[in-house]
Amino acid sequence: MASIRRDPPTPRPSPESPESPESPESPGSPESGSPLVIVGAGGHGRETLDLVEAINALTQTFDVVGFVGSSGDTELLSRRRLRLLGDIDQLSRIEADYALGIGMPGPRRRVHDQLRALGRQAVRLVHPLASVGADNRLGDGVILAAGARVTTNVTLGCHTHLNLNAVVSHDCEIGDFVTLSPGAIVNGDVQIEDDVFLGTGAIVTPQLRIGRGAVVGAGAVVLSDVPPGATAKGVPARW
Ligand SMILES: CC(C)(COP(=O)(O)OP(=O)(O)OC[C@H]1O[C@@H](n2cnc3c(N)ncnc32)[C@H](O)[C@@H]1OP(=O)(O)O)[C@@H](O)C(=O)NCCC(=O)NCCS
Repeated sequence: MASIRRDPPTPRPSPESPESPESPESPGSPESGSPLVIVGAGGHGRETLDLVEAINALTQTFDVVGFVGSSGDTELLSRRRLRLLGDIDQLSRIEADYALGIGMPGPRRRVHDQLRALGRQAVRLVHPLASVGADNRLGDGVILAAGARVTTNVTLGCHTHLNLNAVVSHDCEIGDFVTLSPGAIVNGDVQIEDDVFLGTGAIVTPQLRIGRGAVVGAGAVVLSDVPPGATAKGVPARW
């Protein structure tokens, strides 16, 4: 697993020089937050913007510069007063941190690998309506959407995303680039390896292991270990 930080999921402080008058993508005022680009301009990217806006509504923390990605609905983006700046290579010329608004583990990992080469930093985003208990370890780029719950002594690896109302219970070890779709529930003492995708409303019962790259279908109830790469679905889940 990549680097895990033990510090709490607080936003990064503003950079010393956030402004650049000649760049339209630069933040507009000294009061604005840390420049941030959302990678992924589809629906999940726009939901990520919701999350950032919810954080900013409490404390102005981020100044969203725009989206990067291969495609996006420019009309929907312009309604949010933001635009698609181009593909992710644009991050080489924009001084900004980034959040990955990409739902699937594989593409998220690939984009991360590209951005790491550019030296850009992923932020952690924790929605004000998410809850995080004591003594957890959250990796770089972790995103917790509204209603997500992490109880205690949990490890979430880098760029792991808990979508709306997803739950991870005590003593779980969740790897890198794992996605919990809305309403997925992981009971206590579960180990989930890297790149696992849990579909909407999936349930993983206690003390199980989900192997690397496995997919758990929407609504599945997992009652036994899932091998790496398997697609588990149904109640009880079979593959
Ligand atoms: C499980 C999943 C990954 C598809 O797996 P798959 O093996 O490619 O499945 P297919 O679409 O080829 O369907 C194969 C069979 O599985 C069934 N099946 C598919 N998904 C299922 C699910 N979640 N639960 C139960 N059965 C399912 C299909 O009905 C089909 O059955 P049949 O052979 O009797 O016709 C997908 O259906 C799923 O659940 N994805 C999660 C979507 C989601 O939650 N997204 C979150 C968005 S935020």
